[in-house]
Amino acid sequence: MTVDPSTLIEQQKEYYCARAGEYDEWFLRQGRYYQGDEHRARWNAEAGQVYRALAACDPAGRVLELACGTGWWTEQLVPHTGSITAVDASAEVLELNRKRVGDPNVRYVQADIFEWRPDAEYDVVFFGFWLSHVPPERFGEFWALVRSALRPGGRAFFVDSRRTPLSTARDHVLPEEDDVVSVRKLNDGRQFHIVKVFYDPADLQSRLDAMGWRAAVSETAEFFLYGHATRGD
Ligand SMILES: C[S@@+](CC[C@H](N)C(=O)[O-])C[C@H]1O[C@@H](n2cnc3c(N)ncnc32)[C@H](O)[C@@H]1O
Repeated sequence: MTVDPSTLIEQQKEYYCARAGEYDEWFLRQGRYYQGDEHRARWNAEAGQVYRALAACDPAGRVLELACGTGWWTEQLVPHTGSITAVDASAEVLELNRKRVGDPNVRYVQADIFEWRPDAEYDVVFFGFWLSHVPPERFGEFWALVRSALRPGGRAFFVDSRRTPLSTARDHVLPEEDDVVSVRKLNDGRQFHIVKVFYDPADLQSRLDAMGWRAAVSETAEFFLYGHATRGD
């Protein structure tokens, strides 16, 4: 699909602002994302697997959450951490996160990740369903940002989507294997172009290792890819 790449970052931000009030339907498998109760049970079980992997990593200390969204992962992080800095471009989404999580140890920052620079040194950087939205040509730049946010020996943990048509809405079409642009619709029919890159776990792990991280990337049976990477020095 040919779309002017310079507009994609802006379209993604607009899409998530406009989608804020209906975003949770995706994670809860409701509305256009409903694929049956049995499917939802599998989804929830696999999300639970990733929650446990995150807890096992013990994301303690000062945590930076990039693209925090409406708070599904912020609320998982809160019991482990001393403090969280939660960054997202959307004011609408940040407000929903604040309402869900309601914790005074979470500091919210409205910023574009591609422009924002860390204002502290963190023990852990977390990002959920964000890496897939980083344009491929900005992959190295994004990981350099993560590195610059971490103290020596600090860790990144991430979760993202596997390539399956059952993950997205029933009226979305998966792009071709090598196409990184997807068309996304809202409940009212408005359409946006966004970046969506699906990673192979072994390939992602070796790319991170080659950039000096010590990474381990896994996937659940059907829906999620997740991993952690320790900053090498
Ligand atoms: C797929 S959602 C993930 C939200 C959350 N991490 C989760 O797993 O539920 C992507 C998030 O990235 C945010 N976002 C999109 N473009 C951004 C940008 N350039 N800078 C910061 N946040 C951005 C959106 O507002 C949205 O909340």
